[in-house]
Amino acid sequence: MQLFLDTTDVAVLKELVGAGLVDGVTTNPTLIAKSGRPILEVIAEICDLVEGPVSAEVAATDTAGMLAEGAKLAAIAPNVVVKVPLTRPGLIAVSEFAVQGIQTNVTLCFTAVQAMLAAKAGATYISPFIGRLDDYGADGTDLIAEIRAIYDNYDFDTEILAASIRTPAHVTAAALAGADCATLPPNVFLDLFKHPLTEKGLDQFMSDWAKTGQSIL
Ligand code: E4P
Repeated sequence: MQLFLDTTDVAVLKELVGAGLVDGVTTNPTLIAKSGRPILEVIAEICDLVEGPVSAEVAATDTAGMLAEGAKLAAIAPNVVVKVPLTRPGLIAVSEFAVQGIQTNVTLCFTAVQAMLAAKAGATYISPFIGRLDDYGADGTDLIAEIRAIYDNYDFDTEILAASIRTPAHVTAAALAGADCATLPPNVFLDLFKHPLTEKGLDQFMSDWAKTGQSIL
């Protein structure tokens, strides 16, 4: 499973991308607002740091506006993926971007049939929002499994990018349900490494090791 970081915090990215575990980055208008920086500048900086796909979201809601903004975002770097909302004008833009060879990430997906439309339009990625569905009282993981089944039934090659992830359990559930990728806030990414028994076990090993008085080097 590919793991993306859902952030516009360049300092945090610099710290986390080095270990080879981060495959890409996603952003959205809320995260750009949180950064307090111009979108073109932030996306360019992120693309310098990360070789994999970097999603940059359009702000227009009409097809012509999305096409114009998408072209500008895609020109920043070859690894920019233009993020487009799952609306009818959005999917028309996605089919045009596909013709132009521009990669797309269709965002705000909440049903399997929406995901099927995005794949038919030629989306590179579909982003089902697991956490927001859970907040709404539905099961976000079931949605991933439904999309996986539909994409496999019809050989769609759109990649399922599990989004709105809140916990490591969401990542496990998305992986088991067949998501190709997941995008995580940095704090959830760091939580993936942790388990209380790992910490307890390591404390015990270190304390027993200290008693030996040995040094490996
Ligand atoms: C990423 O592509 C999405 O915009 C993001 O995961 C949404 O997460 P949120 O529901 O926590 O805002």
